[in-house]
Amino acid sequence: MTTSAIAVSGLRKAFGDKTVLDGIDLDVPAGTVFSLLGPNGAGKTTTVNILTTLMKADGGTARVAGHDVATDAKAVRAAIGVTGQFAAVDELLTGQENLQLMVDLSQVPVGRGVVTDLLEQFELVESARKPVSTYSGGMKRKLDLAMTLVGNPRIIFLDEPTTGLDPRSRRTMWAIVRDLVADGVTIFLTTQYLDEADQLADQIAVLNQGRLVAQGTPDELKRQIPGTHVRLRFSTVAELDAAARVLTDSTRDDEHWPCGFLEMVGRSRCGPCWTGSMSTRSMPTSSPFTHRTLMTFSSP
Ligand SMILES: Nc1ncnc2c1ncn2[C@@H]1O[C@H](COP(=O)(O)OP(=O)(O)OP(=O)(O)O)[C@@H](O)[C@H]1O
Ligand SMILES: [Mg+2]
Repeated sequence: MTTSAIAVSGLRKAFGDKTVLDGIDLDVPAGTVFSLLGPNGAGKTTTVNILTTLMKADGGTARVAGHDVATDAKAVRAAIGVTGQFAAVDELLTGQENLQLMVDLSQVPVGRGVVTDLLEQFELVESARKPVSTYSGGMKRKLDLAMTLVGNPRIIFLDEPTTGLDPRSRRTMWAIVRDLVADGVTIFLTTQYLDEADQLADQIAVLNQGRLVAQGTPDELKRQIPGTHVRLRFSTVAELDAAARVLTDSTRDDEHWPCGFLEMVGRSRCGPCWTGSMSTRSMPTSSPFTHRTLMTFSSP
């Protein structure tokens, strides 16, 4: 039997006459990654704040690590780690001192050498003795997450952990999340990036106008996308010709040469004969699922 790390039923929250959460139900099995996806103002941070006891809900129930967030906040806090949307680090202290502060404040025993280990894991050794005010935004995000891991929480909330990070730092963050999950940790992750949810999550829920408008595995949600738009860009005419022969329902565009395009609307039919990298960006459209994908392929 799988146990729920997070179980939410009928969660409601309004600010004045603005309803932000209009009856949210979700269930996160222990040891999995759950991604709450939604545009600016959808209510992602509000959800995180309620589940981490930073804010009270107006209605519904939420249990985290088996404890009710409304009536047993202390037990919830002892079980979780939170990396908020904006880095909560002390700018006047060094990275090392920030981490040591978390060790000193920790309610649970922390192993010796944890500060050194975390500085290494997050590639912050070189700047460990510099004030955080001199860190870049990405370094502060990494330090913030490292501070969350002190005390080895079994449920971790990450509110947009990679917003503003460069591609390399995003990948570092993703690798860290995967390592945590491999270790049995449950991750509740909010993001605006479909590709991030796709990369990391076992389950995705899409929050839009106060409601979860879709929930499922990444594959289940992708199958629901009616209008996926895939653009393939090739560096040589030969590759474009070869791809056009395979992808017969695509539209060929030679006009933008030297970057020849194939446009495909509908489900991607890219087979294993092509390899490449894919990046996906959410588009601000009426449908929360619509997205534009740019694939850069190279022939095997
Ligand atoms: N303390 C507050 N008082 C009044 N309104 C608030 C408060 N906190 C959030 N809101 C409103 O609730 C809505 C949801 O905000 P929230 O921060 O949860 O969105 P979000 O999905 O995290 O957005 P983003 O991607 O921009 O971080 C917004 O319209 C916001 O203005
Ligand atoms: Mg937010």
